[in-house]
Amino acid sequence: MKTKILVINPQRIDFAKIKIAAEEIKKGNLVAFPTETVYGLGADALNEKAVAKIFQAKGRPFNDPLIAHIADIKELYRLSKKIPPVALKLAEAFWPGPLTLVLRKSELVSDIVTSGLDTVAIRMPADNIALSLIREAQTPIVAPSANLFGRTSPTNAQHVVDDLDGKIEMIIDGGKTKVGVESTVLDITTKPARVLRAGGISVEKLKEVIGQVKISKELEEVFRSPGMLNSHYSPQAKLILVEEKGESEVEEVRQLASEYKGKGFKVGIMAKEENQNEYNGFEVKIIGKGAELERCAANLFAILRSFDKDGFDIIITEGLEERGLGLAIMERLRKAAVPKYEC
Ligand code: TXA
Ligand code: MG
Repeated sequence: MKTKILVINPQRIDFAKIKIAAEEIKKGNLVAFPTETVYGLGADALNEKAVAKIFQAKGRPFNDPLIAHIADIKELYRLSKKIPPVALKLAEAFWPGPLTLVLRKSELVSDIVTSGLDTVAIRMPADNIALSLIREAQTPIVAPSANLFGRTSPTNAQHVVDDLDGKIEMIIDGGKTKVGVESTVLDITTKPARVLRAGGISVEKLKEVIGQVKISKELEEVFRSPGMLNSHYSPQAKLILVEEKGESEVEEVRQLASEYKGKGFKVGIMAKEENQNEYNGFEVKIIGKGAELERCAANLFAILRSFDKDGFDIIITEGLEERGLGLAIMERLRKAAVPKYEC
């Protein structure tokens, strides 16, 4: 299959192009498109055959459910049969935006979307290309991140090409995504609501709007035991995360980098800007200033992918503070990391 690429300027949307992409969705084909978080791989949420193609193209197991993207709050009432007041409060505060709500599903939503669960994940993305596409296709669009299963999510169209060229009908190139990490997934079928995945809306912000918020057991697992769930968000290089604070952080990164370099590996370091001069003699990529966590989130996946492009075997990375978007960054690094002396 030849993958067509449509370049659309998000500041001046060419609706003729949106129409072409929407036609593909209506035909039951796959279109990758930008959202404010990461690129999504879209299909008509109400067409089971189209949805099945997503799993095939990504190599994603069927037991991992998809997010339905909507452009109008009315769609929430079609996809869910039980909408608690907290859903509307959250939608009011954060939609369009990087928050996914897990709600009881309606009969309209098929098992292939939800992996047989009786809940459905829904979000309204804050991206004009995404919203225009959903409106023009006149259907909710399910979209996982547009990467091969297990890889880091794409934050520009080239990342999508690298993973899915020849496997999908179309890619809309709308430039670099703003947020850079995926949406926060919040289960509101339980009380208090539970964060299933940290993401673009911070836990602090959620608490401001709905008070109590729980962190899911699975997420806590990731925090207790880094490297235990390393099937996700992984670059091809082995990633080692150093969580020590202050001076001992730099010391430990240096020591690990020397050790692996000595064994003949091509070693790269991902560091905060304030530490960039600490690693003379090593190859360093800067994620951003430690205090600018939103910038760091926006850079994260592109930097991890660039280590792969440059042929690194091992990435040693500094940690970031777990506040705001730092929590989402650390969740992803911990999932991607292998134990320090495994390589
Ligand atoms: O920012 C994002 O969320 C991006 C863009 C494209 O919107 N999408 C994305 O989709 O990251 P994906 O498929 O890579 O991740 C969806 C997450 C998975 O962790 C999945 O398990 C969870 O949402 N999820 C989906 N439906 C669910 C449900 N009914 N209950 C619990 N978790 C669900
Ligand atoms: Mg994903």
